[in-house]
Amino acid sequence: MMELVVIYVYYSDEIIEDVRSRNDIVDVIGSYVNLKRKGNSYSACCPFHHEKTPSFHVSREKQMYHCFGCGVGGNVFTFMMEHENMTFPEAVEMLAERAGIQLPEKSMSGEEKRLADERTRIKEMNKLAAGYFHFLLKSDHGKNALSYLQNRGLSDDTITKFGLGYSDKYSDDLYKYLKSKGYSDDEMAKAGLIRIDERHGPSDRFWNRVMYPIVDTNNRVIGFGGRVMGDGTPKYINSQDTPVFDKSRNLYGLNLARKSKRKGIIFCEGYMDVISMHQAGFDNAVASLGTALTVGQVNLIKRFTDRVYLAYDSDEAGTKAALRALSIMREFELPARVISLKPYKDPDELIQTMGTEEFEKRINEAKSGVMFEIEILEHNYNQNDPQDRTEFQKEAAKCLSRITDPLERDNYIEAVADNYSIDKKTLKETVTAYGLSAESRIDTSVFREQTRRGSPEEEKEKQHLKSERVMITWLINDNSLIPAVREYLEPSDFEDTVYGDVVKSIYEQFDSNGRVEPAVIINHYQSKEEHEKVSSIMQQDFGVDVDAAEKPQAITDLVRRVKRKSVQRSIENAGSDLELIKKLMSQKKAIEKIQIRI
Ligand code: CTP
Ligand code: MN
Repeated sequence: MMELVVIYVYYSDEIIEDVRSRNDIVDVIGSYVNLKRKGNSYSACCPFHHEKTPSFHVSREKQMYHCFGCGVGGNVFTFMMEHENMTFPEAVEMLAERAGIQLPEKSMSGEEKRLADERTRIKEMNKLAAGYFHFLLKSDHGKNALSYLQNRGLSDDTITKFGLGYSDKYSDDLYKYLKSKGYSDDEMAKAGLIRIDERHGPSDRFWNRVMYPIVDTNNRVIGFGGRVMGDGTPKYINSQDTPVFDKSRNLYGLNLARKSKRKGIIFCEGYMDVISMHQAGFDNAVASLGTALTVGQVNLIKRFTDRVYLAYDSDEAGTKAALRALSIMREFELPARVISLKPYKDPDELIQTMGTEEFEKRINEAKSGVMFEIEILEHNYNQNDPQDRTEFQKEAAKCLSRITDPLERDNYIEAVADNYSIDKKTLKETVTAYGLSAESRIDTSVFREQTRRGSPEEEKEKQHLKSERVMITWLINDNSLIPAVREYLEPSDFEDTVYGDVVKSIYEQFDSNGRVEPAVIINHYQSKEEHEKVSSIMQQDFGVDVDAAEKPQAITDLVRRVKRKSVQRSIENAGSDLELIKKLMSQKKAIEKIQIRI
């Protein structure tokens, strides 16, 4: 199958550069991360991985950031893409607005335009379909559906607010409606609104169901969930992923919850829970979309809140889902509390039977994720059996050792000791022991990564790539070297193609501006991996501080090394072309005569 490559560059290089240069990276990152100034550079604990000592650096001079701990890095666009989960054009648009730059109409290639049009048309179709379903719900056809929703306690206001609807009993009425609006079978199928059967032709995906439109944070309908009225199966049918609908990166209700004045975000399992909670005033509730919680969703939510509540069903499946969600939240350092709904099945049921006040009370009594985990753990062990009890206590200590804040950890140790009648001092010692071993585990793994040795050939290869990297660092840190070095080194002399491209950009920039702006070079790359790779070269200062007296020789050695390897490669690839080999051999000899003067 051919892979669809979406190219995101809509704006000209000049515009992109204008936007970049008018958004100072220290100001931009500083508005998300607490940067500490140290001389010319700014540092912080990395927002992309967990750490206690700052290894995330931002350089105003280079207009780039880099984390020595986890390797992320790039320019101001990369940061917005990574931190705010944006596409490249979104980052450009956002930063343009920040700097008060008016962007021109997007210019797109044919394929880009086709894809953008396709997305636009799918959103249009979804909007029409949502309107159509809502209209049906309010019409004669929707009588049963409407009373179903009303019987479940939903007010007309709520129904309107969530744009609920009804898909008719006919199997092709939506199809006919959209057809009359000029959409093709293919488009409708791509939007997930109809299915095409080879024998029976097109038919609606949803029929005779209550419809829940799924709306993204830009208030666009991106998909649907459809519930059977009553006990039929399947209970829900959901839109498949489409070019506008990625289940793992959207949340039901987030369009409303993001505007909530309440503290934090409440995650629950179902569409009905979200609706019911919003109706009761808990308008900070969201749910995942017919799948378990994903990393993408937690990443998304981090943009809106720093506190999460879980209101998952109280059955075994819900508990499992909550434990899983907690472990993702922990990865993202998002403090989570678990709301107990017992003896009710889910938030909807609790609110319908006990009312708003009781739910408010449950929120206030929510347990921290750790306490919840320990409580679940307790059930797995027989507290009357000494061995079992020891196991339980060890596991509990492990849980506690994951709390990074020392004060918070102490408080929980206290609470757990009280709760489960464990000796405080012993528990604390055990927790500390686990904490230390966990920490040293992390440290050694990083250490191993850095010092791991490959075979001698691999080592040589790595050494060589390092020479290429150092060469680039020199060129960037001291632009005056460029004319001398380029006399001997062409971009194609670099074995690593990304490095070669970087050198090409350096030369080009030098030609047109007389100097090199490192952050501009990053603009040429699209992938996260490339951004990281390129930014890491530029952020390093390998040996650039050698004595002025030794500098010419150091550079000369470096140029020779890169060139030698390049010529050697050509010789290996020359096959039996004797003329060429002869030529290359004499080039090789000449290398030893290279002398860089500065
Ligand atoms: N779900 C699904 N397909 C099913 C069952 C459930 O996609 N066959 C998803 C839906 O997103 C649903 C969520 O899992 O909202 C939780 O399931 P459940 O608790 O059964 O649904 P509720 O939304 O609570 O619906 P109701 O209260 O109407 O039973
Ligand atoms: Mn439910």
